[in-house]
Amino acid sequence: MVQAAEMLAGFDPADHLLEIYDEKELDVAAVQEQTDALGFTVIRGWVDPRAVTEGRETLERNFDPGLDRVRGPDGYDLLKTNYQRVCIGHSGHVIRDHNTRLQRIFYNPIWEKDLYGLRDTWVRMSRFRNALMGFDRDFCIERADGGLFTASRVQHYPAGGGFLSSHKDLPYARSLKRNTGLERGMNFLLIMSKKGVDFHEGGGFVELDGEPCYYEDYFDVGDLLVYDSGNKYHGVAAIDPMETFDWTSPKGRFSGLVHLFQD
Ligand SMILES: [Fe+2]
Repeated sequence: MVQAAEMLAGFDPADHLLEIYDEKELDVAAVQEQTDALGFTVIRGWVDPRAVTEGRETLERNFDPGLDRVRGPDGYDLLKTNYQRVCIGHSGHVIRDHNTRLQRIFYNPIWEKDLYGLRDTWVRMSRFRNALMGFDRDFCIERADGGLFTASRVQHYPAGGGFLSSHKDLPYARSLKRNTGLERGMNFLLIMSKKGVDFHEGGGFVELDGEPCYYEDYFDVGDLLVYDSGNKYHGVAAIDPMETFDWTSPKGRFSGLVHLFQD
């Protein structure tokens, strides 16, 4: 059951939701305007929720903690392969703009073997991202382009305390500006777990007027969250913190991302 105390006063999910099924229906200016006005927009219909559930179930079924790898200082290109890692503590930016976390990441580039059946979902998400950010339809989908590549990946926040502290994506926004001149680092986050079913406490949030809005309290698997992650605080509150933590279990919360990373 969703914890009632986490519901945000005065928040109406219907204000944030847009149903958009295909490119003919996509009004980029309207999405941008709504995102600016409300802090985030949720797109329903663009991604097939059945493909997302099947992808997550495939990942869970084949999950092998023995595949975790450590990435050394010269290992950046691992991000362009199917590569699984655990992140504990700071991200790579230890001195500046760090944010603490406990998560597992499954990098799953579009050009690599389609381990989870999520390739079409990554392509759909990337096309939405490209439209919103003003890139060509197929930018960074088949290959790196313009100094950037699509870091399509699944993030797992394990039950028993998986979390990501509140932060803005400052290194991402800086890299994007350097490579493209864009002033804003938009993010497109795919909800992959159902709160109340797959996990019960905590979850992803975007801060609205200084208060965390736990979007999985209101939205569903397959919904695509759009927000300016370079300017809006966001994170993941501890997932089911009263459960016993177990790195070898895929229990917990999953989400999907298609950030443009430095090539
Ligand atoms: Fe972030």
